[in-house]
Amino acid sequence: MTAVDEVELRQHFEATIAHDQRIEPRDWMPDGYRNTVIRQIAQHAHSEIIGMQPEGNWITRAPSLRRKAILIAKVQDEAGHGLYLYSAAETLGADRADLTDKLITSRQKYSSIFNYPTMSYADVGVIGWLVDGAAICNQVPLCRSSYGPYARAMIRICKEESFHQRQGYELLMTMMRGTTEQQAMVQDATDRFWWPSLMMFGPPDDASPNTARSMGWGIKRHTNDELRQRFVDMTVPQAQKLGVTLPDAQLRWNGERGHYDFGPIDWQEFFAVVKGDGPCNSQRIEHRRRAHEDGAWVREAAIAHARKAVAR
Ligand SMILES: [Fe+2]
Ligand SMILES: [Fe+2]
Repeated sequence: MTAVDEVELRQHFEATIAHDQRIEPRDWMPDGYRNTVIRQIAQHAHSEIIGMQPEGNWITRAPSLRRKAILIAKVQDEAGHGLYLYSAAETLGADRADLTDKLITSRQKYSSIFNYPTMSYADVGVIGWLVDGAAICNQVPLCRSSYGPYARAMIRICKEESFHQRQGYELLMTMMRGTTEQQAMVQDATDRFWWPSLMMFGPPDDASPNTARSMGWGIKRHTNDELRQRFVDMTVPQAQKLGVTLPDAQLRWNGERGHYDFGPIDWQEFFAVVKGDGPCNSQRIEHRRRAHEDGAWVREAAIAHARKAVAR
């Protein structure tokens, strides 16, 4: 390719972004864009897959057949989300085996939230309400992401996330109508998951060096702090309706800003969890590594079968 070709291709890429149109797999794109989108999609895919563990842990102990069926459906959805997203990363030339290898050797990250343990069935409800709720805030704007396959995958994923959020809230509503012990379980789970849910939006804007570039490319549509504020504003009235207290003494409505003010986030905790020092990091990775190794024979059999089919 000559230098002139490259200038033209770059202009075409930039015009596509400027017109808010989608970049498709066969289009020319700068390496920085390709690598940033691969990294974001991979991190998102890993989060869906690792995110099956904290709740999957409760499937065998669901309190009723109805709750078990709902939880299985939800955890299966997360597996599906992981698969669409790995496929979206493959359209950019990433290799899925390589992405899995990067996950299980801790060279790529997943959401910090999944490194916290699930202590009771109320956690299933609170994860649906807060964690899937935060995921929706993050992901709805990604339905307009500049990379076409990612944006299209997000449309379906967001529909399913909305079911996840509702099943969680409905479970909590049921528990809050129950015994005082059940109400205490909901409050305890809320106390444990509130701050880690706010951390899901990532570091504050002044400590998030890649945000401006990702927004310029239309990969991201809002800053971390904007999305976090949106989540708090959406969640406070839901907590009131539920009858739980959010564990933040500084949380109050600010009429001037038209938003809720909230207390400082413990960023030291966040960075420790991201670095690998959360309560469950090694357990999550170890479990994923073992599952991958246990599945080796399935991959080998599938390849052998495909070869035979070609030979026939
Ligand atoms: Fe998901
Ligand atoms: Fe979900």
